[in-house]
Amino acid sequence: MLSEACERNKGPILEVLRSELATSGSVLELGSGTGQHAVYFAARLPHLTWQPSELGEQLAPLAERIRLEGTANLRAPIALDAREHPWPVAPVDAVFSANTLHIMAWSAVRAFVRGVGGCLAAPGVLCVYGPFRFRGQHTSDSNAQFDGWLKARDPDSGIRDFEALDELTRAQGLVFTADHPMPANNRTLVWRRLPAVA
Ligand SMILES: C[S@@+](CC[C@H](N)C(=O)[O-])C[C@H]1O[C@@H](n2cnc3c(N)ncnc32)[C@H](O)[C@@H]1O
Repeated sequence: MLSEACERNKGPILEVLRSELATSGSVLELGSGTGQHAVYFAARLPHLTWQPSELGEQLAPLAERIRLEGTANLRAPIALDAREHPWPVAPVDAVFSANTLHIMAWSAVRAFVRGVGGCLAAPGVLCVYGPFRFRGQHTSDSNAQFDGWLKARDPDSGIRDFEALDELTRAQGLVFTADHPMPANNRTLVWRRLPAVA
């Protein structure tokens, strides 16, 4: 199955990742979904080794797409639930996740940031794509409607506040470095773990 949203957003996200991941070598993607992003980004960013992941129960179709469409730098996906601790991965230069934080419960978002903190090298970069609130405000009426729809479906889900995410990431030693406005009122937010001082 193809995600239409992925087809629309993969080009603009690629342009952000081209610059933000220019000096990275390994990337862990959390919540890879259909695998469209992983296939597209890995093929166009050949300097990266791309490690997709998904919840165990969602893994089979993702693995099949990657087997059929993946390039040599795209690894077979691993089962990874953000709530696991520690994450069963080697240290990586970057973590990428798209459209996941508003789907998970807040407790899982906290676990996500803790997992990132546990596997990100120094220097390292975290890029998250999706809708976010800033200073308690939605960035558009359509995002406010989307948030209402999410919460009606699952009261624990919802569009996350940038400031709350920033507090969690700071506790993991990351610093916020970029907010890329994206089409359809989305953002790509970037945090970095700075190089270790010798
Ligand atoms: C809206 S989909 C986004 C998929 C893909 N990244 C994209 O942009 O199309 C949300 C994804 O988050 C995954 N997910 C939800 N809870 C998760 C968790 N606790 N740990 C890891 N992934 C999770 C779901 O399985 C789903 O694939």
